[in-house]
Amino acid sequence: MIDFMVELFPTHLHVFVHDDPLIDEEINGIPDDPDILSHLSVGAKEEILYGSHTGMNDLQLFQKYNLPRLRAFCEKSLASIDPIVTIAQSWMNRGPKDSFQIAHTHAGFSVSGVYYHQDCVPDMGGIVFINPNPHSKMCLWGTEEGRHFPATPRTLVLFPSWLEHKTEKNLIDTPRVSIAFNAK
Ligand SMILES: [Fe+2]
Repeated sequence: MIDFMVELFPTHLHVFVHDDPLIDEEINGIPDDPDILSHLSVGAKEEILYGSHTGMNDLQLFQKYNLPRLRAFCEKSLASIDPIVTIAQSWMNRGPKDSFQIAHTHAGFSVSGVYYHQDCVPDMGGIVFINPNPHSKMCLWGTEEGRHFPATPRTLVLFPSWLEHKTEKNLIDTPRVSIAFNAK
């Protein structure tokens, strides 16, 4: 029998869902512009093709394109968990079939977010957040090595930028469209 349990070093994800079709329209209207595409995307700039997020400092989707409803949704969600931070980088991922992202963090930021577009389906691959507790590798105390979150339409996931994560492979021909950002 357990008298009480302590949540030691918990890591929280915050998930936000909307039902606003105008946000879908805003995203559908974003052109194939190398200036706002991540290294996983077809048509990305050559200088950001290698490495992780380090070459992505110039990506400013929210500054370059007028996306008022998407931006308001992201900023309101962000403010609900941390009223101090502001979005400093933002970009679009258009991951073709077989693309995936290796494990990485968004070093140098406080909160990161990924938003899954309306047409995302589970076969496009979700995101896996890797347990920061090194003992999880030894399967001790019921810990797990990572937690999967599916690519869920119209859904924003906010997570601490230090939390290591990776994506699963997109198994289908339709590009997996998501919007991501870093805040500090
Ligand atoms: Fe990431």
